[in-house]
Amino acid sequence: MDPKALETEALGAIAAAKSLPELEEARIRFLGRKAELPQALREVRDRETGMALNELRERLEAAVAQRREAIERAELDRRLGEEAVDVTLPGEDLPLGHLHPITHIRRAVEDAFLGLGYEVRDDREVETVEYNFDKLAFAPTHSSRSPRDTFFLGGGRVLRTETSPSQIHMMEEREPPIYMVSIGRTYRRDAITATRYPIFHQFEGLAVDRGLTLADLKGTLLHVMRALYGEDRRVRFRTHFFPFTEPSIEPDVSCGICGGEGCRTCKHSGWIEMGGAGMVDPRVFENVGIDSEEWSGFAFGCGLERTAQLRHDIPDIRALWEGDLRVLRQF
Ligand code: PHE
Repeated sequence: MDPKALETEALGAIAAAKSLPELEEARIRFLGRKAELPQALREVRDRETGMALNELRERLEAAVAQRREAIERAELDRRLGEEAVDVTLPGEDLPLGHLHPITHIRRAVEDAFLGLGYEVRDDREVETVEYNFDKLAFAPTHSSRSPRDTFFLGGGRVLRTETSPSQIHMMEEREPPIYMVSIGRTYRRDAITATRYPIFHQFEGLAVDRGLTLADLKGTLLHVMRALYGEDRRVRFRTHFFPFTEPSIEPDVSCGICGGEGCRTCKHSGWIEMGGAGMVDPRVFENVGIDSEEWSGFAFGCGLERTAQLRHDIPDIRALWEGDLRVLRQF
């Protein structure tokens, strides 16, 4: 065996290998168990030749390792170049959702009341007869207590028919002065029509302080109606009845479509009904242990769907529940 010639040939083959399998082939050819050099090393007798051949083997092994590294680096460079993600390319166009009109109204209501220093509150939708009716001083014969009007769940539970139970929760939990607004879903057994839906939302306001009067209620509602519908709105009160307020009134807001002149939307009256309101009935104060000689209060409730319909001129309430994007995308 001619070590010089072997070395030249082996180094040439190693340098010529273009891939890891080719390099492995060259390695087996010159350094494998049956290759010439290892065979010669096994048979060597004198120290001198042994050392020379050993050094040759080490040089060849080093050349293989070096070549392996070079091939791997080239491979990595190629993949980085070819498979790289160009982060500057525009991404896939994912459609962005947006808030439902009821959520918009809810936030507008919250903003209007937060601006007045009111506390926003969220209460349960499954109520007890006690909180939905009894403590709000509903007469035992009141028609809302009928299963024809209200969803009863058994065990003295109902789906709340209004957000008014929040008044009771708040007054039981906290000493006056109280300024709160409670917003959420309410339920009534109504047939589905253009103006009624068995699930709807209300906002409920309650203020309890010393010396509050109907004038405070009117000013508060005026502020909120203007925040919701515009600065030119006016508010008026008509007498009404609610079990938990005395006196009770129904607030109207001036029609924004005709400016109060009279049109189809306001049924030619110039006014649109906004909900219910009144001064907290002393019996309710008694039910929650508040002294009605010292404290007085007012409360009001309005539907959010109604507000949305008026704000956006939506003729049919069902549009707010059907989730039809052709409708919802307009808001
Ligand atoms: N809860 C009444 C309703 O749903 C509205 C209301 C709220 C009336 C607060 C008076 C005071 O019709």
